[in-house]
Amino acid sequence: MQAKMQLRSQRAATVGRSRVQTKVVCRAFNSMESAHAEELKKTAAYIAQKGKGILASDESNATTGKRLESVGVENTEDNRRAWRELLYTAPGLGQYVSGAIMFEETLYQTARDGRQFVDILLSQGIYPGIKVDTGLQILPGDKGETTTQGLDNLADRCKAYRKQGARFAKWRAVVKIGEAGCPSTTAVLENAHGLARYAQICQENGLVPIVEPEVTLGPGDYSIEETAFWSERVYSHVMRLLNEYGVVLEGILLKPNMCLPGLDAPVATPKEVARATVRTMMRSIPPAVPGIHFLSGGMSEEEATLNLQALNEEAPNAPWALTFSYGRALQSSTLKTWRGQEANWAAAQDILVKLAKANSEASVGNFKGPHPVPGGGRILQALRTGGAGK
Ligand code: 13P
Repeated sequence: MQAKMQLRSQRAATVGRSRVQTKVVCRAFNSMESAHAEELKKTAAYIAQKGKGILASDESNATTGKRLESVGVENTEDNRRAWRELLYTAPGLGQYVSGAIMFEETLYQTARDGRQFVDILLSQGIYPGIKVDTGLQILPGDKGETTTQGLDNLADRCKAYRKQGARFAKWRAVVKIGEAGCPSTTAVLENAHGLARYAQICQENGLVPIVEPEVTLGPGDYSIEETAFWSERVYSHVMRLLNEYGVVLEGILLKPNMCLPGLDAPVATPKEVARATVRTMMRSIPPAVPGIHFLSGGMSEEEATLNLQALNEEAPNAPWALTFSYGRALQSSTLKTWRGQEANWAAAQDILVKLAKANSEASVGNFKGPHPVPGGGRILQALRTGGAGK
């Protein structure tokens, strides 16, 4: 009798457990069928369409200010607005660019003629996006490793940004390599967690998350193989957590670094960069992700194009778009041409569109040169910590 009762209570416990497990599985499954899932997939596929990339123009007011001041333009709200108006109204930009990432201030700004920036972008066929992280903070320790902030109130902010016209978002996590002890397990896990939780919140609120794990190009003579090793490890952790958090992979875009050797090592050829980068992506990024949009990360404008071209020659049948989400590699010469002068407006727009066209061609393996900005050095910037983004 006692044995029978024991058996019954064991069975009840097992049934109870399996019900709980079934519930968990269903919840994960249901989240893939969430209200926004179909729209997110379409938006991500649109942005990752063949021959197009993203214009990253989401620098914080502080970083934009430094860039403007480097060409003698004062860091005022109206000058930041004018600079972004120059970018977004460039004639023909939409032939080569399918998304533009904006800073919060810019998302709500208007052009001189009163049109909202989001409407100008949409009229060019460019989806407006928004940087939603609030910048880097130093992690404990003496290595200068960072975590990214911005999860607080993120759901509410996403709702407001979507209402204003944003269709996708960006969150940049930076992982430092090239120094003994870097990256620490804490940095890898913490940044993977931040990206996954951010992506989950964005999808819940109707924004396609650009997931940006940047294994940053920094000082040191570390090899391209070392960058590839850590990049593979970091991306694999990120993908694992995206899965854990029920993120729909068809409804995200990835924005990683290309694999490059450290700044004090000899520069790698485009072929070497392409081999190491494609191998890393093949090992760690599922084909369900529609687009891999590389950041320029300090490469010169020409280097960014040539490396992208080599990537597409290396993997012409890659399961994802191998394309660009460049900030500095699209903006640097554009800004130097403008210098805040009305008379240079059209010439600056022309150089932006030429750079976008070159990268668009490279994204389908069709860039034959010459490059609009040949030569040119690396476009490096210090890591900004303490808030407000890059
Ligand atoms: P860069 O292309 O200048 O690296 O910027 C891309 C970006 O958005 C980094 O967060």
